[in-house]
Amino acid sequence: MANLVRAKISALGTYVPPRLLTNADLEKMVETSNEWIIERTGIRQRHIVDKGMATSDLAIEAAKSALQERGIPGSKIEAIFLGTVTPDMLFPATACIVQDKIGAAGAWGYDISAACSGFVYALQTAVKFVESGAHKRVLAIGADVMSSIINYQDRATCIIFGDGAGAVVVEPATDGNYMIDFIHEIDGSGACSLYMPGGGSRNPSSHETVDKKMHYVHQDGQAVFKYAVRKMTETSETILKRNGFTGKDVALFVPHQANRRIIMSAAERLGLKEDRIVINIDEYGNTTAGTIPLAMQTARQQGRLKKGDLVLIASVGAGFTVGAALMRWAC
Ligand code: UT7
Repeated sequence: MANLVRAKISALGTYVPPRLLTNADLEKMVETSNEWIIERTGIRQRHIVDKGMATSDLAIEAAKSALQERGIPGSKIEAIFLGTVTPDMLFPATACIVQDKIGAAGAWGYDISAACSGFVYALQTAVKFVESGAHKRVLAIGADVMSSIINYQDRATCIIFGDGAGAVVVEPATDGNYMIDFIHEIDGSGACSLYMPGGGSRNPSSHETVDKKMHYVHQDGQAVFKYAVRKMTETSETILKRNGFTGKDVALFVPHQANRRIIMSAAERLGLKEDRIVINIDEYGNTTAGTIPLAMQTARQQGRLKKGDLVLIASVGAGFTVGAALMRWAC
């Protein structure tokens, strides 16, 4: 029997910390140059937290902003799904901290560890709970403080990442503007292409793990790059095709912001011109689970996201995790 309930994004809120880390700042920290970073990644600056600020602090601001836009208090939220790889602590879940601070009494939820696909996975989870009829108002959040796990002596990783968060309210659709479809894949054969080896049950934190810098992000940049271009393209093509669309129908492509060259390679293969792609990596760097809501916000601020627009989002992250979604923009 057809599922009659469809779900939509009814509000969007984002937050980045005010402090900037520019390419000029990084030139003083590692052997790199503004020109290399811009040419190889498209990044000019990132926002990073001041000491003491954690992922929940960013997520709470983003969630409050989404609630304010929707005009509802936190008490109306029934569940919170939060994508992050930089939780405040290993446990409890950062979703619990957010629940308390936004006054979502009676809500439940959990964190989702899907790295750069964290927001897409959280959104899918929120959408499914609304489509099933279990909930009417759910928060999907993507938030990361990547600066807490970056080695600022490693030029291969420290130039890429920034901190940021985005949150959306998901609720039942009332017209033709709703979440159309999702695709997800995980591929653990790439687990060691991008990972943080220390601090988990395999290598519990110790003086040795810290001495070996295992508490930082380690990355095989080229392997991630190739996988990201291939999978972003493949999943985008599949989700469009199985819903009767082609690249020409897409009003806006909102990709995970990992590297400008990854985005442009995928977009070219999909036949999408620059005027239909959102890129804000120059301003924020790669904020992991925060990139897609932050990019949606940029598109709105630029007047490029209107009700009814066909929007394609796509992500590839550590794991590997892959996600894509298709929607008619609804707010
Ligand atoms: O959300 C998922 C997160 N991660 C990603 O998406 C990462 C995907 N990968 C990438 O974005 C790129 O692979 C990087 C930006 C990480 C690196 O760019 P690349 O064009 O693949 O550079 P490369 O690793 O092939 O290195 C080329 C050269 C090397 O020097 P030699 O061996 O040719 O002399 C590197 O040592 O560039 C050097 N290099 C740098 N030079 C200046 C690497 N990092 C830097 C740097 N500044 N920051």
